[in-house]
Amino acid sequence: WGFYGHKTVALLASRYFLPETAQFVQTYLYRGQSIMDAAVWADRYAHIPLGRYSKTWHYIDAQDDPPRVCEVNYNRDCAVSKGGCIVSALVNMTSRIQDDTLPWAQRAQALRFILHFIGDIHQPLHTEHAQLGGNRIKVLFHGHEANLHSIWDSKILESHRGRPTERGIISFTNDLQSRIESGEYKSEASLNNWGKCLNTTRAEECALVWASGANRWVCEYVLKDGEEGVEGQELGGEYADGAVGIIEKSIAQAGYRLAGWMNMLVTGRDGLD
Ligand code: ADE
Ligand code: ZN
Ligand code: ZN
Repeated sequence: WGFYGHKTVALLASRYFLPETAQFVQTYLYRGQSIMDAAVWADRYAHIPLGRYSKTWHYIDAQDDPPRVCEVNYNRDCAVSKGGCIVSALVNMTSRIQDDTLPWAQRAQALRFILHFIGDIHQPLHTEHAQLGGNRIKVLFHGHEANLHSIWDSKILESHRGRPTERGIISFTNDLQSRIESGEYKSEASLNNWGKCLNTTRAEECALVWASGANRWVCEYVLKDGEEGVEGQELGGEYADGAVGIIEKSIAQAGYRLAGWMNMLVTGRDGLD
């Protein structure tokens, strides 16, 4: 995701933190750094030479190409030889943040990765190999050239909600929170379907469940008619209208699950209901 997605995931999660979690998170932020700023750090880091090793940690590439059978397969798609993937990275960072033999700076970095990866693992194209997660698929968006990945990361959401200003992020977060608590997402979320997989001792299993859920959207919507269905096409109309609902719900799930994850690892219990 872009700034809008990641910052909203983090702010939404903070609305569901237990007091102990909020306290814990605060300890690992720099002075004056918001949780929203911390959540976007990992993308900047992956693009500087020092952090380049972490680039493959932002996605898991399901290899069925073009995607027909939608499935994420850990052994196939998360090879150590590729530098690992978002699932192994989330597992590792979840254990590092809890390792009190590590210095503060390393645990703080683990937190920044977790805040970011639980967002990215919900972006359908971060779970798909096809043309580098759509980065190589050229499309048109409101008459401008773009690639499929970038419109799913940010352009569709921003054309729907405007620039990711602080006001915009707060208002989007408020919307998602009310959909979770009394609206459209309530039955799915509160039956604890969204929070079901919160066992940080089986972090890998949970992360794979989340990645598979996101990957299902690739077959069901993102590349429903194959690469030919989107390549060179104008996607600012009907396609974007249908995508907005998927993107917003994915961001809501990510925020809600991030909260459950953090509550679980700080307190040892599921603090979502
Ligand atoms: N590079 C290679 N695969 C990718 C993906 N799924 N998402 C983002 N960048 C990638
Ligand atoms: Zn992306
Ligand atoms: Zn990322």
